[in-house]
Amino acid sequence: MPLSAVVLAAGKGTRMKSSLPKVLHPIANKPMVQHILDALSEVGAEQINLVYGHGADQLQSALAHNQINWCLQAEQLGTGHAVMQAVPNISDNDDVLILVGDVPLIQVSTLNRLIEVKQQCDLALLTVELDDPTGLGRIIRDGDNITAIIEHKDATDEQREIKEINTGIMLMSGIDLKRWLGQLGNDNAQQEYYLTDVIGMASEEGKRIQAAHPDTPIEVEGVNNRLQLARLECEYQHRKADELMLSGVTVKDPYRIDVRGTLETGTDVEIDVNCIFEGTVKLGNNVTIGANCILKDCVVGDNKRIEPFSMLEDAEVADACTIGPYARLRPGSKMLDGAKVGNFVEMKKTTLGKGAKANHLTYLGDANIGENTNIGAGTITCNYDGVNKFKTEIGSNVFVGSNTAIVAPAKLGDGSTIGAGSVVTKEVDTDELAIARAKQRNIKGWTRPTKLS
Ligand code: UD1
Ligand code: CA
Repeated sequence: MPLSAVVLAAGKGTRMKSSLPKVLHPIANKPMVQHILDALSEVGAEQINLVYGHGADQLQSALAHNQINWCLQAEQLGTGHAVMQAVPNISDNDDVLILVGDVPLIQVSTLNRLIEVKQQCDLALLTVELDDPTGLGRIIRDGDNITAIIEHKDATDEQREIKEINTGIMLMSGIDLKRWLGQLGNDNAQQEYYLTDVIGMASEEGKRIQAAHPDTPIEVEGVNNRLQLARLECEYQHRKADELMLSGVTVKDPYRIDVRGTLETGTDVEIDVNCIFEGTVKLGNNVTIGANCILKDCVVGDNKRIEPFSMLEDAEVADACTIGPYARLRPGSKMLDGAKVGNFVEMKKTTLGKGAKANHLTYLGDANIGENTNIGAGTITCNYDGVNKFKTEIGSNVFVGSNTAIVAPAKLGDGSTIGAGSVVTKEVDTDELAIARAKQRNIKGWTRPTKLS
């Protein structure tokens, strides 16, 4: 049967105390609900109905790249009422997977397990046993069969002793769901249309209701406040660290790494503490990342050391380069094989050729730098006149002395040398020496000033 999904996300999320709809709060830089949408596309959901109530504009723009049926629940009259909003999109012969938008760590393997259980019964429920089930719907059983869910507020003291709870995730056929939703009332402690009442209806019709379970309870934990958000973020990051280590990466401290996107790694990669990886990052073989580095959307080749406190964004680094400590590669930075960038060097839209070096205190912007060129300490490419940006072309085997300002547009030919302290405003030809600084004057017989009394 084709799989349809209904994601419930109309609750206000008051306890987040935020102007952002709760389900857009991120785990690993990605909206919570996007984690669920991604899991749904992995399990092959053919259509996704998102029931929303607040923050329509914010939701629609944050989730614009998804194929979603937007189902407005203008008034939040309960989870059953929420699912009713998606009914016009659901066919009788769909299997309908119902989830909540604020349970972001749900695993594809768990959803697949639920789908398997449904193949043996009429309604599959994801349940879990908790030491403290306070506030949640309790699972009522008759042996192997589930017969009802009783909400905490409606439960007797005896029922409140039950540890098995409803996660809110369930699967049933479209035809059953629609029939049961049609019979829902709101005669209960909260005067809400409870989705959970369909379980009792199914049982009365003699349907078979079976449970599946997640690997760990935290997978189905919801987010209602920022404490829970932080807890799930930590859990997510622990998982990522575990995955990395099992794939052969040395992670110096699995509690101090953050992967907010995709990190691909070669063999023998070593990552020191407090590194953050964002977007899509690819690391080659034998790459060592020092402590406190931030890498975003970049590709790093083999045999490389990135020293502590370096930041790379939208950068491409070939093999055997060294970077940092305290280096900053901004978008469009490219280092070819064996290039070196040292401390307090910033690059932007610049290519550093094979074996070229900029070891200290330098800004290289909109520049092309050839092979084996040495950029001295304190070199600045002056690429901006306050209005426009200009390019700098530096050939191969060039030696740029310290404290040089190269005013773009500029061209330094192959093998040229620039004397330290120069302000270069004219083109320098191949193998020429350019010196552009005030001449030194020595004054003989100079007497130092004495202290005035
Ligand atoms: C619900 C279940 C309970 C279960 C618990 C798991 C019902 C009646 N109860 O509890 O058995 O143990 O989830 O967390 O289903 N929502 C809407 N529209 C509404 C109401 C809720 O979209 O009118 C959404 C919320 O945004 C949320 C989800 O449904 O994502 C669950 O709602 P919430 O109020 O958190 O759950 P409970 O009703 O307390
Ligand atoms: Ca509620």
